[in-house]
Amino acid sequence: MFDPAAFGPAIQQRRRSLPAIRDQRHPASHGPRLFADSADIHDIEPLYRAGIINGVTTNPTLMKRAGANSWAQAKAMLTDILTLLAPNPVSLELTELGYDAMLAQARELAALGSNAVIKVPVGGYRAVDAKADPFTGLKVIRALWELGIHTNATLVFNTTQAFWAANAGASCVSPFLGRVADYLAKHDDAGGPPGNSLYQATEPQRYHNTEYVACGGPRHDAGSRLVQEIVTVFAHYDIRTEVLAASIRNPAQVSEMLLAGADIVTVPAAILAGVADHPLTDLGMQAFCADAAVFTG
Ligand code: G3P
Repeated sequence: MFDPAAFGPAIQQRRRSLPAIRDQRHPASHGPRLFADSADIHDIEPLYRAGIINGVTTNPTLMKRAGANSWAQAKAMLTDILTLLAPNPVSLELTELGYDAMLAQARELAALGSNAVIKVPVGGYRAVDAKADPFTGLKVIRALWELGIHTNATLVFNTTQAFWAANAGASCVSPFLGRVADYLAKHDDAGGPPGNSLYQATEPQRYHNTEYVACGGPRHDAGSRLVQEIVTVFAHYDIRTEVLAASIRNPAQVSEMLLAGADIVTVPAAILAGVADHPLTDLGMQAFCADAAVFTG
């Protein structure tokens, strides 16, 4: 767990210089913002109406889960979300591969609403096409920055990827803390240093610095410390790209991200409901309601 004392003045200063909740009279206007990580408008609408969320993130998996079976359906679904949330940001992920096709699709998605943010995978292109340019995503981010289109660099798993995306011009970066934690829990050799399943001395060509273990320290909070590391670098160098903590698995990680200095935390609707229903809040409500029965006849 993070030490709140580590939440330094640089991070507080950073929050004042970054996009705020639009109504400046709002008491939390410079605080981190919560987004819904969902493409289901039935999940999103009550959270938005309650003032809990100030944005939405989607991806192809969430679109499919919400019932989209074609590109036309996906676009209709995204348009409804953009309209509901306007002027708050909604991240729409590219599904095309290849620079030209991605740029064309980004323009198509950006035209759906002025609050559209184009989500671009930061890398992984050679994992789906061995001949692909590994820097395709960064080049697309750079081109969109030149066009004035906001981007969200997604699938970020180390601080260098985040820094590259910021340099390319990304409006925000999305480290997936839950997937880091899941992966290490499943694959790490428990006797070795945290992260040994991702960074191994047996793969010297791939990972030159075999002593460096990303997010080193206790294995259980490696994902959370990835976000803390990115925030610290961005705050230190006054990098105005926002850090959007994604892939949240439980309510405790939401608190950890607020302490880590994340600018945005995107959370599945079911986990936000879990935050509302804390066991002690539930017990307190039951006791208050039982005692209040005296007054309500
Ligand atoms: O926005 C997508 C990101 O949050 C992914 O989450 O649960 O698929 O790891 P998950």
